[in-house]
Amino acid sequence: MNDLPSHKSLVVYPGTFDPITMGHVDIIYRALNLFDELTVAVAANSSKTPLFSTEERVELIKENFAHEPRIKVEAVKGLVVEYAFRKGAIALVRGIRAVSDFDYEFQLALANRKLNREVESVFLMPGFRWIYISSSMLKDIARNGGDVSELVPVNVNTAMKQKYANIDNGVPNS
Ligand code: COA
Repeated sequence: MNDLPSHKSLVVYPGTFDPITMGHVDIIYRALNLFDELTVAVAANSSKTPLFSTEERVELIKENFAHEPRIKVEAVKGLVVEYAFRKGAIALVRGIRAVSDFDYEFQLALANRKLNREVESVFLMPGFRWIYISSSMLKDIARNGGDVSELVPVNVNTAMKQKYANIDNGVPNS
């Protein structure tokens, strides 16, 4: 027996996840090596217009972690740090792929700390093979008929193909 408190550690992984990529999946599993439970918080970035609706993004993530009770997925409105605090999370998890991510993440972390000092920010590096990918880049490749099947979960690959086929056929994006 050690003297550590027995309560479980929960962290929140916020992002737009439009859509979730293998890089995000990698960060989620790395975080689960460190913390007991993780909630993926599908949030809004006011400067982005997502391809997938919030409900679609939540569902695409949920389908991938249905077998893992330690992972929950929720849509979040409002401030992510306040949401994390209300849930009793000890930290927000974010991935850093390259030095170029640092300025933005630093700003975000300090702003979140200013809003609520009880919730830390924790940064993890994805595996090397995911370092160069981003959701926008993958959407651009898929929109132009390229193959992203190794870079996104299977259900995301299918959903992207469907989405772009609908758009090409003039079906309005929901
Ligand atoms: N693998 C692959 N791609 C990754 C990645 C990884 N491990 N980590 C980040 N990315 C990519 C994402 O795909 C995304 O690419 P894109 O810009 O091409 O879409 C980009 O890096 C960053 O996206 P994401 O991690 O989803 O963050 P975001 O910057 O879109 O989200 C929020 C920022 C949603 C967390 C932030 O705006 C927020 O907290 N909003 C809620 C409101 C709030 O609390 N505001 C106050 C903040 S101080």
